[in-house]
Amino acid sequence: MNATPPGAAVGIDGLRKHFGDVRAVDGIDLVIAPGEVVALLGPNGAGKSTTVDMLLGLSKPDSGSVTVFGQAPRDAVRSGTIGAMLQDGALLPDATVGETIALVAALYAKPLPVAKALDRAGVADLVGRRCGKLSGGQRQRVRFALALVSDPDVLVLDEPTVAMDVETRRQFWRAMREYTSTGRTVLFATHYLEEAEEFADRVVLMRAGKVAADGSVAQIRATVSGRTITAVVPGAEVGALRVLPGVRDAEVRAGRITLACVDSDAALRALLTQFPLASDIEITAVGLEDAFLALTAQESA
Ligand SMILES: Nc1ncnc2c1ncn2[C@@H]1O[C@H](COP(=O)(O)OP(=O)(O)O)[C@@H](O)[C@H]1O
Ligand SMILES: [Mg+2]
Repeated sequence: MNATPPGAAVGIDGLRKHFGDVRAVDGIDLVIAPGEVVALLGPNGAGKSTTVDMLLGLSKPDSGSVTVFGQAPRDAVRSGTIGAMLQDGALLPDATVGETIALVAALYAKPLPVAKALDRAGVADLVGRRCGKLSGGQRQRVRFALALVSDPDVLVLDEPTVAMDVETRRQFWRAMREYTSTGRTVLFATHYLEEAEEFADRVVLMRAGKVAADGSVAQIRATVSGRTITAVVPGAEVGALRVLPGVRDAEVRAGRITLACVDSDAALRALLTQFPLASDIEITAVGLEDAFLALTAQESA
């Protein structure tokens, strides 16, 4: 059975890949519509690269399926429908950047002109440089040019900015913005929250081989957001705290209570009414960072 609707840019259906006891990808379903820019966000070991590899036909699922505009991954790669920038793709050290791009361009029926691919990746000035002489960040952007040269409809990037300094990273995302503004589909893996927040329309949060949350950044944040109240409350029990209005979850540790709130005003009023001895009260907002930690920590034990 295939749940992927026709016309989807990417359809991932019941995807699994195990390495011995490690369930690297443990049942993923995902449909990406044309034009979506999706961040695959998750901590190290979450299964992002394993997913990306199967999407590109570099490894075979144990079960489930992947399609790219209805094609099998290998066919999509061969036809240039999907392009990729991988974490550790090697470059020939003695070839120049221009030669390297030209070599790869020759594999495709309708490649971009080399100069254009370089320009889009923001590395036009490196055309004559030998690949062995590139800095880490430059190498990443040359890989980006390689990913663009087939003029793909779907671009997949695995932690594209890892080796980049701040300025290079900014240039990279500027180039990406231009690319995505033409309506292309992008899936990028990252463990940088800020990148997901800033550049993706949609965030798919992975944890231990599964999708832990899927939605806009705002939606992801809302699943764990709100505010947190901490206070010293003598004699308070978790059961009584959890049922306070406005409280989603409660915890008591070393005499201090922590309330995760959906409505901190209501929670605070109720807390003070029922526990008038509450003292040392603090209220903090939950950021995306906290949301990320909460979502990736749950059930990992
Ligand atoms: N070739 C492999 N052999 C054995 N284990 C692997 C292999 N590739 C990945 N893993 C394991 O699968 C899990 C997911 O890895 P990976 O997909 O690389 O995560 P991520 O890219 O999110 O950091 C990790 O526990 C990793 O150690
Ligand atoms: Mg990875």
